[in-house]
Amino acid sequence: MTRYKKQDPEITRRRFVNAAMGGAAAVGTLGLVSALGGAKPVLRITPDKAPPRKGDILVHAGAGKEGQPILVSEVGEKAVSAWPMGKDKDGNMVIRKAEPNNQMAVFRFDKDKFKVPEEGGHSPVVLKLEGITDNGIVAYSNKCTHAGCPPPNDPKDITKLFCGCHSGQYDLLQGCKVIGGPPPRSMPQVPIKIENNQLVVTETFVTAPFGFLNEADWEAYLKRVEEVLG
Ligand code: FES
Repeated sequence: MTRYKKQDPEITRRRFVNAAMGGAAAVGTLGLVSALGGAKPVLRITPDKAPPRKGDILVHAGAGKEGQPILVSEVGEKAVSAWPMGKDKDGNMVIRKAEPNNQMAVFRFDKDKFKVPEEGGHSPVVLKLEGITDNGIVAYSNKCTHAGCPPPNDPKDITKLFCGCHSGQYDLLQGCKVIGGPPPRSMPQVPIKIENNQLVVTETFVTAPFGFLNEADWEAYLKRVEEVLG
């Protein structure tokens, strides 16, 4: 354990615990021991690992168009896989895909159909209507909060997501709140706006994405990102 600290002063408790938690969620107690024993070297906070940041644009994550900006006309009810792309300190554009938790999906529905979820049940659930474009485009994390699978649209109801790993279900019209299965909390929205026919991030994940223990853990990580990257 100590060797990690010696190798990299930016190693955080979060990263280490997350490695363990990810393993535990996926394979249980034995997996936790395994993850602890075999945790990969902890990652330094770099621009390509930063969470989505204000001003980033969303680019395709899918093969064939990877790295190309997602255009408004390309978004429909079916998920379009996305990464955030933004500038580093030198002004170079960087796709933030070195952090797997940055995997997102973008959808478009009639904006009138979105509904701010009521509190209660799985929480927190946040849907910022101002972070949905006027023509109904919304972006969410696409890492199931149970064990990190990327859930696609539910074939029975395209306004829902169905995670085939353990039957988790999410409602896209209500802040991606959990409506079935084992996920412990919603997959967070990434508020966006349209500029020059592209999708631009106005705020990072509104609640803790997969890989974080809770909201406090996530907030602490965001603070650290600001300290390191400015
Ligand atoms: S990873 Fe288990 S329900 Fe999605």
